[in-house]
Amino acid sequence: MTALIKIKLFFSNKLSIFLILVIFFVYLILFIRFPFYIPAAVQPVKISYGPEIVLKSDKNIWVGNDTADSQPNNKTSIRHIVFGIGASSDMWHRRKSYIELWWRPDVMRGFVWLDKPLAGGKDHQNDSLLTHPPIKISSNTSHFNYAHSGGHRSAIRISRILSEMVNLGLPDVRWYVMGDDDTFFVTENLVRALAKLDPDQFYYVGSSSESHDQNIRLFSYNMAYGGGGFAISHALAKAVAKMQDGCIQRYPKLYGSDDRIHACMAELGVPLTKHAGFHQCDVVGSLFGLLTSHPVTPLVSLHHLDVVSPIFPGLNRVQALGRLALPTRLDSAALAQQSICYDTARNWTVSVSWGYAVQVFRALKPAREMEIPVRSFKNWYKNYDPKGYSFNTRPLSEDRCEAPAVYYLTKAVLDEKLRRTASEYLPHPIGNLRCDTWKKQDDPAVMVQRVEVHKTPDPNFWSKSPRRNCCRIIESPDKRGTLGIDVGPCTEDEFAGF
Ligand SMILES: *[C@@H]1O[C@H](CO)[C@@H](O)[C@H](O)[C@H]1NC(C)=O
Ligand SMILES: *[C@@H]1O[C@H](CO)[C@@H](O)[C@H](O)[C@H]1NC(C)=O
Ligand SMILES: *[C@@H]1O[C@H](CO)[C@@H](O)[C@H](O)[C@H]1NC(C)=O
Ligand SMILES: *[C@@H]1O[C@H](CO)[C@@H](O)[C@H](O)[C@H]1NC(C)=O
Ligand SMILES: *[C@@H]1O[C@H](CO)[C@@H](O)[C@H](O)[C@H]1NC(C)=O
Repeated sequence: MTALIKIKLFFSNKLSIFLILVIFFVYLILFIRFPFYIPAAVQPVKISYGPEIVLKSDKNIWVGNDTADSQPNNKTSIRHIVFGIGASSDMWHRRKSYIELWWRPDVMRGFVWLDKPLAGGKDHQNDSLLTHPPIKISSNTSHFNYAHSGGHRSAIRISRILSEMVNLGLPDVRWYVMGDDDTFFVTENLVRALAKLDPDQFYYVGSSSESHDQNIRLFSYNMAYGGGGFAISHALAKAVAKMQDGCIQRYPKLYGSDDRIHACMAELGVPLTKHAGFHQCDVVGSLFGLLTSHPVTPLVSLHHLDVVSPIFPGLNRVQALGRLALPTRLDSAALAQQSICYDTARNWTVSVSWGYAVQVFRALKPAREMEIPVRSFKNWYKNYDPKGYSFNTRPLSEDRCEAPAVYYLTKAVLDEKLRRTASEYLPHPIGNLRCDTWKKQDDPAVMVQRVEVHKTPDPNFWSKSPRRNCCRIIESPDKRGTLGIDVGPCTEDEFAGF
């Protein structure tokens, strides 16, 4: 009996010594790999830019004219847009920080529409000091019928924001743009999308859901989803304002505000002008796949900011979206635009999502595969059913050799003389996983610790026919592990092939 206990003790002691050794080695390895972990945000940018120019600090950050604001020749600009944000006073305090990320009080017009005044009269602020759109209280809609058992009658109020804004009679409005309090707009790209259309004609612009089920069963592929935001030309808005109240009464059983708008559009016979840059984001988890294989169209909006995880690791949701501000300011047209290139000597595929992330794959993968979003997310019903999406997706590999080494944007600067940007991308704080079968090959997780992308901003990128930029590897990983990449228009006969 005692002998048995002794043996047991002996083994459990050995086991604990073994465990301690294992833990010690793991720490040792981690320490060797990351001796002093410096958070990305405070790392200095030292970008050697060709032989003579070195960008050293934020001083070189260019606050340029890439705002699509100053359009000559009567072109549509941000001043011609009025935003209508559907919000509730209970959630306002928390959601307002999302709006403050993109709202520019000096150039934008619009209102946040609440159900009731904020506690303490906080909505009576001095408008010129606001960091968000001025607040308006929606008019009483209790006399409308609402008969959907699963929804909330605030849908009627939010649907009527459009008519209420038309009835304000604001001057020089070309577009009314609706969004939720958790919608993030890249307003420069919104202007780019709308400036192509004649606001004196009837236009209903937006996009459907990422969830095939939502589109086919509950709502419609013909509906612009409200959270992704949608735009209505002023001519159409005037027509809607005249009939919307009657129209709303004809559809008491509908669920939301956006399907009520869609019902009125169907009565008016105006189809959805689909723009794939509006993102309802009806997914759960990480938007990585959507942002690294974005359609070849400007990124206009993101939604469900409380549902999806922060778009950059190690930051909270608001900080993470805030990190997009810098690339947006430098080259909004290029934001999250993909380019694909190869290091055929090393068997690497490089996929750049400008201003967001760079991936290096341990294989030569064709462009037709790389342009398909990887399922970094679950679908809206929180499962992995690959048939649940309204677009093509590809699986996320669990094999660490198939998974790419990933680098996220940390900094972006502009060289004013060359008018070229340099953006820096670093690995996730815990690093990229090595691949055992690539021990004798050039494993990007080992060789590349930093990616630097050079690009000339092109505010007119979207006035041309849509085409992805090309990328080229201009610098093999040096001693510090920097991979240099150039992104720009494809030259004659250039394409992403290997
Ligand atoms: C922006 O454009 C205006 C007018 O075209 C010009 O006067 C101004 O200097 C420009 N600003 C910058 C930062 O380039
Ligand atoms: C400018 O464009 C708007 C919207 O398309 C149009 O209504 C207006 O007539 C135009 N003004 C001039 C002077 O062309
Ligand atoms: C609002 O603030 C501005 C700037 O501080 C000031 O000039 C203006 O008089 C204020 N207006 C009111 C109504 O308080
Ligand atoms: C809205 O109107 C109804 C009657 O039409 C009234 O009972 C209710 O108090 C009103 N609500 C508000 C917030 O004024
Ligand atoms: C690249 O991949 C091919 C095919 O898988 C293989 O034959 C070749 O040896 C690899 N080259 C390098 C440098 O790893």
